[in-house]
Amino acid sequence: MADGYLWLRALHIIAVISWMAGLLYLPRIYVYHCGVAPGSEASETFKVMERKLLRYIMNPAMIATFVFGIGLIWILSPGIWQQGWLHAKLTLVVALAVMHGMMAKWRRDFELDRNQHSARFFRWMNEVPTVLMIGVVILAVIKPF
Ligand code: HEM
Repeated sequence: MADGYLWLRALHIIAVISWMAGLLYLPRIYVYHCGVAPGSEASETFKVMERKLLRYIMNPAMIATFVFGIGLIWILSPGIWQQGWLHAKLTLVVALAVMHGMMAKWRRDFELDRNQHSARFFRWMNEVPTVLMIGVVILAVIKPF
C-alpha cells in the first residue's frame, strides 16, 4: 500500500507539472497570436501550436492529474476528508479546470479567426493559473488547516 501511495503521488506530481506547463504557456501563445493578421502564415502556425498543446499535452495531463489525485484520495480515505486543506485545494483545482475550459474556447475562436480579446487581456489571463497553482501547492505541501 505504501509503495502504491508513493507511486501515485509521484505520477500525480508529474501530471501536475505537465498540465501547469500548458496552462502557463498557452495564454502566452495567444498574446503573440493577437499580434498577427488572421489568415496569415504566422496565424496558421500559431493555430497548429495551440491545437497540439491543448490536445496532446494539456487534455491528457489534466485527466491524469485528476485520476492520480482521486487515487490518492481513495488510498487516504476516509480520514483525508476531515482535512480542511483538501477542500480548499479542490476548490482551487476546480478554478484551474474552468481556466482550462476557457482556454479551449479561446483556441476555437482563434481557429475560426473570430478572437475578440486583446493581447493585454491574455497577459492578465496568464497570471490566473500562476496564482491558483501557488495556492494549490502550498495547501498540498504545508496542509495549513
Ligand atoms: C482533482 C484534482 C486533484 C486531486 C483529487 C488531488 C489530490 C491530492 C491528494 C489526495 C494528495 C496527497 C496528499 C498527501 O499525500 O497527503 C495530493 C498531493 C499533491 N497534489 Fe494534488 N490533487 C489534485 C490536483 C492537483 C493540482 C492541480 C496540483 C498543482 C497545481 C496538485 C499538487 C499536488 C502536490 C504538489 C502534491 C504533493 C504534496 C506532497 O507530496 O507533499 N494537485 N493531491
